[in-house]
Amino acid sequence: MKIAFSAERLPTSGSLVLTVSEGPEWGDVAKGLNKKSDGHLTHLAKTNQFKGKRGEVLTLLSPTGLSYDRLVLVGIGEEKDLTEQKLVEAGGTALGSLPVNKLEDVSGAVDIAGGPIDAATAAALFAQGFVLRSYRFDKYFTKTPKDKLPTLRKMTVAVDDAKKAQRAFGRFDAVSKGVFLARNLVTEPANVIYPETLAAECVKLTELGVKVEVLGVKELTKLGMGSLLGVGQGSEKSSRVVVMHYKGNASAKDKRPVAFVGKGVTFDTGGISIKPAGGMEDMKYDMAGSAAVIGTICALAARKAKVNAVGVVGLVENMPSGNAQRPGDVVTSMSGQTIEVINTDAEGRLVLCDLLTYTQEKLKPRAMVNLATLTGAIVMALGNEHAGLFSNNDDLSQQLLTAGLAVEEKLWRFPMTEAYDKQLNSDIADMKNASNERVPGSIFGAQFLARFVDKKVPWAHLDIAGMAWTRRDLPACPKGATAYGVRLLEKLVADNYEGK
Ligand code: BES
Ligand code: MN
Ligand code: ZN
Repeated sequence: MKIAFSAERLPTSGSLVLTVSEGPEWGDVAKGLNKKSDGHLTHLAKTNQFKGKRGEVLTLLSPTGLSYDRLVLVGIGEEKDLTEQKLVEAGGTALGSLPVNKLEDVSGAVDIAGGPIDAATAAALFAQGFVLRSYRFDKYFTKTPKDKLPTLRKMTVAVDDAKKAQRAFGRFDAVSKGVFLARNLVTEPANVIYPETLAAECVKLTELGVKVEVLGVKELTKLGMGSLLGVGQGSEKSSRVVVMHYKGNASAKDKRPVAFVGKGVTFDTGGISIKPAGGMEDMKYDMAGSAAVIGTICALAARKAKVNAVGVVGLVENMPSGNAQRPGDVVTSMSGQTIEVINTDAEGRLVLCDLLTYTQEKLKPRAMVNLATLTGAIVMALGNEHAGLFSNNDDLSQQLLTAGLAVEEKLWRFPMTEAYDKQLNSDIADMKNASNERVPGSIFGAQFLARFVDKKVPWAHLDIAGMAWTRRDLPACPKGATAYGVRLLEKLVADNYEGK
């Protein structure tokens, strides 16, 4: 989707998408159009009970008195309560209500007077939502009729300070690039994206100035990552760990990087503790944590963020085979701690624990955030509304919660205590990876990870199992892979770690 900003007068023909705020008075643009149409617009809004509430849309075809083919009004709620996210959503809702296979270009405008967000930034946010919702993944359709293919390629947003809007859009567009990359990687099936090919995708970030290291089985063995390697040993596809260094702030006071760590199980059959067949195809998205990390590093590099960040992803395939790890096996992690593998389907934590040790020891981060589709239990607890947040640090937690609210990638914090930690103890090793008792599954997973984290390192674990994929269209995301985490982490960096 191409976005342009123009300070010229709003076109009077073609298709126009326009935001409308809730309240007694419409904005100047809507008022002008209403006048031109002899009050027809307010009349139509009234009969359709369109009030300008957040999420409301009213599509008018050839409205009387105006020469538009199509006028789409999108509600943004009361102007005094306007937020960045509401504008992104409005742009997404606008795109979602257009017949993208029938139009080629549209014009748009954000019709606000003043309020908390300036007009240029508002126009850029609206455009970002439009772009985010336009995502498609149709490379595997070979028979789609031509008239079903999207033809909509461009939106021109009318805004007085078009230059400023364009500048603001630069950052948002870089974020969208990271989001699209993550969605693509998650959507690709597991016969296309497996450890080797996903590592190759990471290497492509060198084009953006990212230094990428790929560690193969030999190096991982030397590092002592017995826990991570145990997960991949049943697969024909050999495991990889990829480290992506983005150094955007050479003169920082604190040169230590912010570290993002991702679970990249390119397919999770469960291994010998095999999953039931129904829905197993979903487990291609068990690498969504790593995709979020890759997308975040992409976004930061693409917009030249003033920050030192590092992404670490553990790429493995969890398969049953004659060489697969068995329930009851004991593995030695890079930290030296031993783990009894009670359940080969609790593999994410086995991958992450070695990544956390590596990140802490070799990269000395100022903060460490890991993302993982770790437990089905988090979906039972929080559904598709919040990701689970587990942390050893209140400040980092607050930063994450705040960023999550701002970009509508929400989090909910769970408790971590010694009493929960005790449940990890094994009869034969330092700990077990799962329990046969009735334990709170998501907290158990988090407590497992915590055993590998130095208490002095601010650390957070995000359990994104319920957030990585959506079965229905969302305002700024069509159904499918969400890239949850990219916008969240980019915002976390922008608000707390950039230029510092
Ligand atoms: N990848 C799954 C978790 C998952 C579930 C992700 C649903 C996305 C959607 C994870 O590896 C897993 O299998 N977890 C087990 C852990 C259990 C065996 C302790 C689970 O949640 O059932
Ligand atoms: Mn599993
Ligand atoms: Zn898994």
